[in-house]
Amino acid sequence: MDENMVEMQKISKAFPGVLALDQVDFSCLPGEVHAVVGENGAGKSTLMKILAGVYRPDEGKILLRGKETSFSSPKEAQSHGISIIYQEVNLIPELTVAENIFLGREPQKKLSFIDSPVLYQRSKELLGDLGVDIDLQARVADLGVAQQQMIEIAKALSLSADIIMMDEPSAVVSGKELESLFRIIRSLKENGKAIIYISHRIDEIFQIADRATVLKDGKRVGTVTTQDVEKPTIVRMMVGRSLSETFPARERGERKEILTLDDVCRDNVLKKVSFKVYSGEILGVAGLVGAGRTELARAIFGADPIDRGTILLNEKKIRKATPKTSISNGVGFVTENRAKDGLVHCLSVRKNLTLTILDRVKSWFFVREGKEKDYSKNCVKEFGIVAPSIEQEVQYLSGGNQQKMILAKWISIKPALLIMDEPTRGIDVGAKAEIYNLMRLLTKQGTAIIMISSELPEIIGMSDRILVMHDGRVMGELSPSEATEERILMIATGQKTGEHETKGQAFAS
Ligand SMILES: Nc1ncnc2c1ncn2[C@@H]1O[C@H](COP(=O)(O)OP(=O)(O)OP(=O)(O)O)[C@@H](O)[C@H]1O
Ligand SMILES: [Mg+2]
Repeated sequence: MDENMVEMQKISKAFPGVLALDQVDFSCLPGEVHAVVGENGAGKSTLMKILAGVYRPDEGKILLRGKETSFSSPKEAQSHGISIIYQEVNLIPELTVAENIFLGREPQKKLSFIDSPVLYQRSKELLGDLGVDIDLQARVADLGVAQQQMIEIAKALSLSADIIMMDEPSAVVSGKELESLFRIIRSLKENGKAIIYISHRIDEIFQIADRATVLKDGKRVGTVTTQDVEKPTIVRMMVGRSLSETFPARERGERKEILTLDDVCRDNVLKKVSFKVYSGEILGVAGLVGAGRTELARAIFGADPIDRGTILLNEKKIRKATPKTSISNGVGFVTENRAKDGLVHCLSVRKNLTLTILDRVKSWFFVREGKEKDYSKNCVKEFGIVAPSIEQEVQYLSGGNQQKMILAKWISIKPALLIMDEPTRGIDVGAKAEIYNLMRLLTKQGTAIIMISSELPEIIGMSDRILVMHDGRVMGELSPSEATEERILMIATGQKTGEHETKGQAFAS
């Protein structure tokens, strides 16, 4: 008798130019959390999409409860009790939260009218279980990515499937949401569900997973029981070498005032925000989902207007900034939502990389293809972007490689101020280290970086100063030496005001 809930045998899948999966075996037991880990482009999402009926394998078998099965569509996989939370958020922006959760499966009244009260009631229960507070009537377009991710999770749970795949569900959530997610996973486990969990945060794997399968370049390196191994072992299996976990040493360039915010307010999301940013420093911005961090970034970049207050860039007052004027003033913005505003998906790697530096690859009015090619080949090498060629459309790159593209695009214009919203989200451990080095290189050359991040080790390890936001306000400023995860969380949850407890001193150190 086969006790596996699902078993995948010798699965292979090729895409033009890449063998994404090469004879991969994978299985998951009922009541087990099985993690899939590996570098960007290792084949994790492809393996999941095969099980979800998105792709058909070129070779190999899928067995559900011991019985060979194949699916020709995601719907068919769903009908076999398989549900997936995709890495890229897949919601319809124009619909409400509740409508998205039950899209295509709306509870119906007679004559097939949608039973709205039931729809809203069931959505409310689901989100309640997840412990998230989101307005069910809100349009998804108006929500941040973390909230969108929680809706994706609610949607997958509403299917009451037996096999639940989560492709980096935690990439954008932190704190309370992450705890709720883990609580839910544990209860699914108790109910005998099979859970497949992809994450780049190795600590998480040890917290939640029973086993982990490591993929590298489309091949299965091995499967380990998390209780029996240590973190460095998994990292070595993933990247093929040992990695030190330290952050690159701080090195500051020349320090002059780049940006000043004075009593900046916007609607209910930014409340009297004031601070300064200096050249050559990394200002970390910590806070929970909904604290106003992304709103702050958008206001500085001119993506949203401000109601009150002033913003000075290079000591000049900015009036009615737009993203366009910001870019020409030397401000870059790596957004948290790579699927939406980071890249032009139907264009090639080469075209995307050169979009922000067109003047450098143009002579007169013509884009010089040769220059474009040299430039993008260099970028691909420097940032370790995995793509079969620079002519590949970016929509076919793995999630992490798309993120690297966005970083490469902005870092290469050497902005005076670079705002990075969750810069290493979805990035594998090896590439993270490279990105940290690049950030240090930039600050050494004088760039000021505002880094918004939910990963507290990264905030503490990389920032020269740390601002903690709560409910639209800056609640405190810490220097990295006095910051601990607990202290940041206390301030971020509003339990301790820490009202500018060290403001002004942070620089003295
Ligand atoms: N639809 C597609 N067309 C062409 N190539 C693809 C397609 N989907 C994936 N690939 C390629 O297959 C390989 C594996 O990609 P996959 O998305 O499975 O990686 P991943 O392990 O999920 O990475 P990440 O951590 O970055 O999400 C990559 O080289 C990717 O570029
Ligand atoms: Mg992926």
